[in-house]
Amino acid sequence: MIVIKIGSRSFHIYELLLLGGCITLFIYLVLPYRFASHYDYIPDDDIERMLLPQVTPNVTHQQGFDCSYEELIIGSRFVYDAHFRERLLHSEQIQPGGEYQPEHCRARYSTAIIVPYRQREEQLHAFLTYMHNYLRQQLIHYRIFLVEQYDRKPFNRATLFNIGAQVAAEYDFPCLILHDVDLMPLNSGQIYACTERPRHMCSALDQWRFHLPYRGLFGGVVAINTAQFQMINGMSNLYHGWGGEDDDLYERLSSHGYDICRFPPAYSEYTMLKHKPEVPNANRNALLHAAALRFDTDGLNSLVFTEVERRLHSLFTHILVET
Ligand code: BGC
Ligand code: MN
Repeated sequence: MIVIKIGSRSFHIYELLLLGGCITLFIYLVLPYRFASHYDYIPDDDIERMLLPQVTPNVTHQQGFDCSYEELIIGSRFVYDAHFRERLLHSEQIQPGGEYQPEHCRARYSTAIIVPYRQREEQLHAFLTYMHNYLRQQLIHYRIFLVEQYDRKPFNRATLFNIGAQVAAEYDFPCLILHDVDLMPLNSGQIYACTERPRHMCSALDQWRFHLPYRGLFGGVVAINTAQFQMINGMSNLYHGWGGEDDDLYERLSSHGYDICRFPPAYSEYTMLKHKPEVPNANRNALLHAAALRFDTDGLNSLVFTEVERRLHSLFTHILVET
C-alpha cells in the first residue's frame, strides 16, 4: 500500500485520490451555477409572432411566394458541423458584398450582420464560411458588413458597430445584428431577424458551459431594430479596449424604456473560437458609472471616423476605417 506523508500526517493513496475526485466534482457541479443566472425567454410558440417582418426595398419588389418560417422555428435543432467552417457550399448563390436572398420564396426579413474586426484572419475565414452555410438555411435576406479598424489605437468595438449601423442604414437595412467574429450559432431556430424588443442571442455559450453569467449581459451577438438603435443614439464611442461597452448599451436601452428579450436556451447555443484574452480597459467601470450622463451626447451623433476603403468581397462588404 502506498502511503504519502503530508506534514506529520500519513495518507493512503486512495484517500488522496478520493479527495481529489471530490474536489473536481465539486468544482464541476458548483462553478457553472455560481455564475448562472436564470432568465425569461420567449416560448417557442411565440417566437414567430415576436419577429418584425421588414425588408429592404429590393426584396419587396421581387416576385414569388412569401417564405414560411414556422417549420424552421418550431423544428429548431442542433445543426453545428465543424465541416461548415471549412467548406463553403454553393458559393455561387452568394452575391458580391456577402449578400443573399432565397430564390424560390420572398424573404420576410432583411438583416445586416455587422462584424467589428482587426487581425483575426483565421477566425474570419471560419466565421464567414460557417455563417454563409448556416444563414442560407434560414430563408432570410442578409448581408455581412465587416468593419475593420485600421488605426493602431485600442480596439473600439462600439464605434465600429456605430459605423456599421450607419452604413447598413445607407443600404436600407431595417434590422441590425451586432456580431463578434468568434461566435457561431449552433441551433437552426435562432433566426437572424429582429424581434420587437432588442434580443440577446448568444445566451447559452459553450465557453460558460451554456449558462448566462448575468441577466444584463448584452454582448457577443445581439439583434436590434435599426430605428431603435438610432433612437438610443447608438453605442458609446468612449470604450477603448476590452469590456463595458455592451453593458453601456444595455443601460442605454433600459433608460429609454426598452426591455431586452431572449429565445429559449435550446435556441441560443453558441460556440466560441478560442483566442488570447484581450487587454481589459481599466477605465471601463468609471465610464459605466457615469454612462447615463452621456447617452444624448456620446454615440451616433458624436461619431467621427475616416472611411479608408469600401470594397465588395465575395463573402462580405469590407469597410476599412480609421477611428
Ligand atoms: C464586461 C462585458 C463582457 C462581460 C462578459 C463584463 O464584465 O463588462 O463587456 O461582455 O463581462 O465577458
Ligand atoms: Mn471574443
